[in-house]
Amino acid sequence: MTPRHARTALATLALACVATLGHAQQGKLKVGLMLPFSGTYTALGAAIENGFKLRVEEQGGKLGGREIEYVRVDDESDPAKATDNVNKLIKRDNVDVIVGTVHSGVAMAMAKAAKESGTVLIVPNAGADAVTGPMCAPNIFRSSFSNWQPAYAMGEVAAKQGKKKAITITWKYAAGDESVGGFREGFEKNGGQVVKQLNVPFPNVEFQALLTEIAAAKPDAVYAFFAGGGAVKFVKDYAAAGLNKTIPLYGPGFLTDGTLDAQGDAAQGMLTTLHYADGLGTPRDNAFRTAYAKAYKLQPDVYAVQGYDAAQMLAIGLAAVKGDISKKAEFASAIEKAKIDSPRGPFSISKSHNPVQDIYLRKVEGKENKMVSIAVKNLADPARGCKL
Ligand code: BEZ
Repeated sequence: MTPRHARTALATLALACVATLGHAQQGKLKVGLMLPFSGTYTALGAAIENGFKLRVEEQGGKLGGREIEYVRVDDESDPAKATDNVNKLIKRDNVDVIVGTVHSGVAMAMAKAAKESGTVLIVPNAGADAVTGPMCAPNIFRSSFSNWQPAYAMGEVAAKQGKKKAITITWKYAAGDESVGGFREGFEKNGGQVVKQLNVPFPNVEFQALLTEIAAAKPDAVYAFFAGGGAVKFVKDYAAAGLNKTIPLYGPGFLTDGTLDAQGDAAQGMLTTLHYADGLGTPRDNAFRTAYAKAYKLQPDVYAVQGYDAAQMLAIGLAAVKGDISKKAEFASAIEKAKIDSPRGPFSISKSHNPVQDIYLRKVEGKENKMVSIAVKNLADPARGCKL
C-alpha cells in the first residue's frame, strides 16, 4: 500500500468511527419502568405504563428523535426492595431515564438513588412530599401531584361545607400521613377540627374495628386515604356498615379513581378532590380518552393521565437536547419553561419540579367521577425544604 493509500484508508476508518459514535448517541433511549406489577397497586402501574406508551406511540415510537426501549421492574410497592430494584436499572441495565413509581415509600428510595447517580427520574404517581421537598434535585421531576395538594383542597371543601369535626383514616405510611396532614391543614385553617387519626398498616384491609370506632364517635365527616384494591375494599366496607348514610366520606380522588366498576353502589354520591375528573369535555381530554379507549379497550383514569404526561415531559426535555439526555441543564430548563398540554388541563412545573395545577371537586355518578367545580385553581405544593 502506498503512503497515499494508507492515509486514505485511515481517513475512511476515522469517518466510520465518527459515524458509529454518532449513531450510538442517537441509538435507542433506555427507559426503566419501575412500577407495581403485582399487589394492591397493580392496576395503577398498568394504567401508568399504558398512558406512557400511548404518548410514545403517538410520537411514532420515538422521543427527541430516539427510539424507546423499555426495561420493566416490578417494585411490588415494597420499600424494603426499592434500593436494590432501582440500582438494577441504574447500574446493571444502564437506563437513560427512570419512570416510577406509585408508592411513596418506594419513590423516596428511588429519588435518593437518582440524586446520587444523576439519572433522570420522572415520578408518574407517588406523591411523597419529600421528593419535591427536601429531596428535590435538578434531575428529578413529577408528572402527578404531591400528597399535600388534593388533600389540602379537600380540607378546604369540607370546612366550607360546614363540617366541624372530622376523623381521618389511612394506611400508615408516607402517603397516608401526608394526605392526612394536608387535609388537616386545609380543614383547620377554615374552622374545622380533626378529632382523631386512625391508621392501618399498608396494605392491610381489615377495617371493621376502626369502622365501629367511627360509628361510635359520630364525627361530621370522615377523610380517608386509600387507593387501588384497598380503596375498593374500604369504600365497600364503609357502605356495608351503613356509615355512608349518616357520615359523609371524603378523600383525595384516589379513593374512587379507577375503582368505580368494583365499588358499584357503595361509592355513589361521594365527593373527592383530584387533578383529573371525568367530563372535563375539553378537546384535549376528549382526544386523549378516545385514543386511550381505542388502544386499550378501557377508559383512562388519573394514573393513565400521569403516565401520559410523564412521556410528554420526557419528550419536551429530549426535543430541547436533540435526544442527548446527558445535557442535563438544557433538558431540565426546557421542562421548567413548558406549559404541559395535559388531558387534565394545561399545567406548569414549579421550581421544585412538581405540577402547579387545578384541583377539581368531583362527585361519583354511576361509573364516573364527574367534575363539579375547580376546588382550588393553580395550586402549587409549598415545597417545604426544597433548596434548588
Ligand atoms: C402514594 O403512595 O404516594 C400513592 C399511592 C397511590 C395513590 C396515590 C398516592
